[in-house]
Amino acid sequence: MSRRLSIALVSFILVSCSEKDSYDPAHDYFSFANTEQFVTRHIALDLDVDFDEKKLRGSVVLAINALDTAAREIILDTRDLKIASVAFVVADGSSEPATFSMGEYHESKGTPLVIAIPANIDTHSELLVRIDYETSPSASALQWLPAELTAGGKYPMMFSQAQSIHARSFIPLQDTPSIRITYEAKISTPPELLAVMSANNDPLTPRNGEYEFDMPQPIPSYLIAIAVGNLYFAPLGKDTGVYTEPEMLDASVYEFANTQDMLDVAEKQFGPYRWGRYDLLVLPPSFPYGGMENPRLSFLTPSLLAGDRSLVSVVAHELAHSWSGNLVTNATWRDGWLNEGVTSYLESRLMEILYNKDRVDEERVLSYEELLEDFATVPLERQGLAPRFESGSADDVQGTIHYHKGQMFLQYLEKKFGRDRFDAFLFAYFNDFAFQTITTEAFVDYLDKNLLTPNPGIVSRADVEVWMYQPGLPEGAPIPSSKTLNRAAELALAWAIGEATLDDVPVQDWSPQALIHFINSLPGDLSREKLAALDDGLGLSNTGNAEIARTWFIQVAKRRYEPAYPELEAYLHRYGRMRLIASIYGELAANGHDVALANSIFASARGAYHPITNVYIERVLKKAEAGE
Ligand code: BES
Ligand code: ZN
Repeated sequence: MSRRLSIALVSFILVSCSEKDSYDPAHDYFSFANTEQFVTRHIALDLDVDFDEKKLRGSVVLAINALDTAAREIILDTRDLKIASVAFVVADGSSEPATFSMGEYHESKGTPLVIAIPANIDTHSELLVRIDYETSPSASALQWLPAELTAGGKYPMMFSQAQSIHARSFIPLQDTPSIRITYEAKISTPPELLAVMSANNDPLTPRNGEYEFDMPQPIPSYLIAIAVGNLYFAPLGKDTGVYTEPEMLDASVYEFANTQDMLDVAEKQFGPYRWGRYDLLVLPPSFPYGGMENPRLSFLTPSLLAGDRSLVSVVAHELAHSWSGNLVTNATWRDGWLNEGVTSYLESRLMEILYNKDRVDEERVLSYEELLEDFATVPLERQGLAPRFESGSADDVQGTIHYHKGQMFLQYLEKKFGRDRFDAFLFAYFNDFAFQTITTEAFVDYLDKNLLTPNPGIVSRADVEVWMYQPGLPEGAPIPSSKTLNRAAELALAWAIGEATLDDVPVQDWSPQALIHFINSLPGDLSREKLAALDDGLGLSNTGNAEIARTWFIQVAKRRYEPAYPELEAYLHRYGRMRLIASIYGELAANGHDVALANSIFASARGAYHPITNVYIERVLKKAEAGE
């Protein structure tokens, strides 16, 4: 190596090391809140739900403790909120107005609300800060659905999605998972509608437009959630039930019939369920995720209603978050694998107990393939489980790396230490960190102390750090395989070259996962006739299974199989769940011919999508057009 080059290399390494040093893994780069000085312990909401103006309007009282009693400024997170007034509630219940200012708007973080503490307020005791405010009709967390976008078509609906940093668009607060709060809420709605929250929903509450909630367990802000609509309840088991519009109630009860069993198994496996009831809320198709683990009340996409219970692993996943995520929470979004990776692993353990290992292996193979695809595009410095993460969109860090590589890391530990030891470790972990937030580094310390060191010579701390900070998959990563899926891939090739007919493909005996793998394994150069035969033979364009349809329409877009474009377009109008639609838009825009089509479908469908989805699809389309 030339001298000049080696000097350049050394100084490059030095610069990147010193940059690394200035990065604080415990700091939340996605919040303006000065949590080293003040922490909120409780919030009380009093909100009116105004469907005409698409606004929440009312007040929040934040109970805040000063960690630094000399500090005289509280900074909260907001996004598109209209703040009417800020006051400190004092001992006799009267209030002391406070001056406040809105800081500079930041694209991903929103706008800081800076509150000056009046001179006569003593910060040694708890501060009660009352803020009167209203939300914007375009609040990023909220979707206001007109009646025609609901199942019943007669009543409007509104629901929130706060993860990762959208709570600030409907409540001014310290919007960071590094602190936890309890909350209470008074919600007024039109009298014919029901409000539910991530709190103590009472299935028997009278329907009168005045609802009160209490969440006595401390949670991070991203788990505050609300939905208002023509919602009804049906029980699933003794502590479980489902809320949805009456039009979807029977189908939901059928699809999610084993929720109580899931809960019982999960408690046995991971420790007590500490949240009271566990209910589900099935939302309209515009819900942007498969599921969201709002405590006591998981929010779900109706695309899970396949009619055959084949997609319930999403419920297992959201339920599992009651331990990993909701009970033990990632300190910042960069530690998201502690939420999503651990949960994906717990999900697979639940599915293995409730169904069988084959089903789990099939899901794992599909996940692994998604992970490999991601490794091909995600920059190397983002491929560790806990990458440096300080800018961009907080929603984006939760890619397949957190989910699938995270799950593989836990499987790796399970294999190395044996199930019994690993299960005991996890059980203790949930107990020891219950209702706390935790950084990756704190997890590694705990793992070292409680599993690695007591069982020497099996896995070293350095081995673990490779998983945390290095790209790709470390040596010894457990690569999943499934006989059924291998066979499906073989059949796909055999059929493509004419060595098998569709009659040889045992779709009736297959899980949706096997069919998905079959479709994904087809070679790139299939003729139109072959694609037509496939679509006709297997009914792909008209399948009621949203995951199979997604897989098929990705291929349709990639291969420009135009005869299926009308169904593809209908599918993009039917669902707003990001996972289902994003790659189809992406493939259309990237296939060299259909950018205009992708944009025009999006233009006509976006009115029905959630604000979070629209921001995401815009980005997907831009990227695909730019050839990235
Ligand atoms: N917490 C996530 C949803 C989420 C992730 C919201 C990132 C905002 C930012 C939820 O638990 C989840 O992972 N949902 C998955 C389902 C799961 C089975 C992988 C989904 O929506 O597809
Ligand atoms: Zn999750």
